[in-house]
Amino acid sequence: MFTVHVNGMDYQAEQDNKLMRFLRDDLRLTSVKDGCSQGACGTCTVLVDGKTTRACIPMISKLEGKSIVTVEGLSDREKEVYSYAFGKAGAVQCGFCIPGMVMCAKGLIDVNPDPTRLEVIAAIRNNICRCTGYKKIIDGILLSAKIMRENLSVEEDEGVVAVGDTILRIDAKEKVLGTGEYPDDIYLDDMIHASAVRSEYPRAKVLAIHSGEAKALDGVIGVFTAEDIPGSVKVGHLKHDWDTMIAVGKTTRYLGDAVCLVAAETPEILEKAKSLIKVDYEVLEPVLDPFEAMKEGAPLVHSTGNVLAHEHLVRGDADEVIEKSKYKVTKHYETPWTEHAFLEPECAVAMPFDEGVFIYSTDQGTYDIQHECSLMLGLPPEKVIVENKLVGGGFGGKEDASVQHLAALVAYLTKRIVKVKFSRQESITVHPKRHPMWMDITTACDENGYLTAMKAVVVSDTGAYASLGGPVLQRACTHAAGPYNFQIIDIDGKAVYTNNPP
Ligand code: FES
Ligand code: FES
Repeated sequence: MFTVHVNGMDYQAEQDNKLMRFLRDDLRLTSVKDGCSQGACGTCTVLVDGKTTRACIPMISKLEGKSIVTVEGLSDREKEVYSYAFGKAGAVQCGFCIPGMVMCAKGLIDVNPDPTRLEVIAAIRNNICRCTGYKKIIDGILLSAKIMRENLSVEEDEGVVAVGDTILRIDAKEKVLGTGEYPDDIYLDDMIHASAVRSEYPRAKVLAIHSGEAKALDGVIGVFTAEDIPGSVKVGHLKHDWDTMIAVGKTTRYLGDAVCLVAAETPEILEKAKSLIKVDYEVLEPVLDPFEAMKEGAPLVHSTGNVLAHEHLVRGDADEVIEKSKYKVTKHYETPWTEHAFLEPECAVAMPFDEGVFIYSTDQGTYDIQHECSLMLGLPPEKVIVENKLVGGGFGGKEDASVQHLAALVAYLTKRIVKVKFSRQESITVHPKRHPMWMDITTACDENGYLTAMKAVVVSDTGAYASLGGPVLQRACTHAAGPYNFQIIDIDGKAVYTNNPP
């Protein structure tokens, strides 16, 4: 038995656990956000004896006799000031990082009421924000310090604002204080937990899934495979090419492919059950380069061929005009994959509802999620209700179904309330990235420097699934000439399937 002193009260814990798990799961102090569980992002920052501490690292057994403060434990005045100052500075966007930033601010201002900008920067150096660019958070902390130092009053916005006025976002306060709900903040009675077993290889034929041992484990509700899907196994944002799970006899397309889905009473049993699942594979050579994938005889990622989309924009005869132009420049350009690294990993909570399902989601397209889940469940759309909770960043990385359809499936099959949540690693492995592109561009102009023509060849790696690969390629091609006045163009683009992340 451990005694943990949190926000001025003593609590007893029967089992040792990470401080973050105790604060969130036992005390339901959900301002302590779980962005990575690995001490890397700072969203779980609390004060331990006045010092900023990432709550996902220490065990509660090491904290006896220490005083822990979370945003919920701030005084009313502090809550009022931080809500106002962060809101006024425009520091609150998705909000997922903000409670952690507030605890950094408090840790600083408590000992240094008049910090310099540099001292504020140092105070938040271990906390990541993917939305604001930090400047406004720093401004918000400096404004908080000033209001407290000078004992200024905090004014609410008047009802009438003029164009150009700075107004407080209506959701700033709940995000600063951590009372706003992201799906992972939902705790419901009898809620179970589910998670997918992912492919061990980017390209491998699934020969068998051995789930007997996992199913026999106490607390396991079920292990589900593609055969259990009542509707379409394939979903997809625009093109339905994405297997919800890879069936026995089928071939995986990337490391993020789900092979089976495990549901259990607790996250701990779930992890244990997943480790007991054994999958037999016939490992195949993956194709990891779009240029290789376009070659004759390359392994087919999809039976329809490896070219997902082809765009060819032509106006005039670019070859001829470039040939006759006084100056021409040909260069090769490359842009890499970009992981969005939104601070909130994907999470969904689903439950049976009116012969269908109700899903709490965090995504960029509520109706797309409804459409894909109804397709997979074989239900009419009105039987699938999707409600978006707060979205802790997306930047294009939360357009596709990731956790929502898995949660919907388990809720539908088990008739239980279920949470499906990605770890940071699973999030990075599974969700689509910004497409890497390879571009050869020739630009020509006359003797006065006036642009005459351009020619471009663009190749993008769309990875294992289409996702938004088609429209993104189209955008790349239609925008390749930039804002310049080219009357003559020849732009050829291809988006190519590989066994890389979508
Ligand atoms: S640092 Fe603790 S959740 Fe990221
Ligand atoms: S507001 Fe900081 S991560 Fe979104």
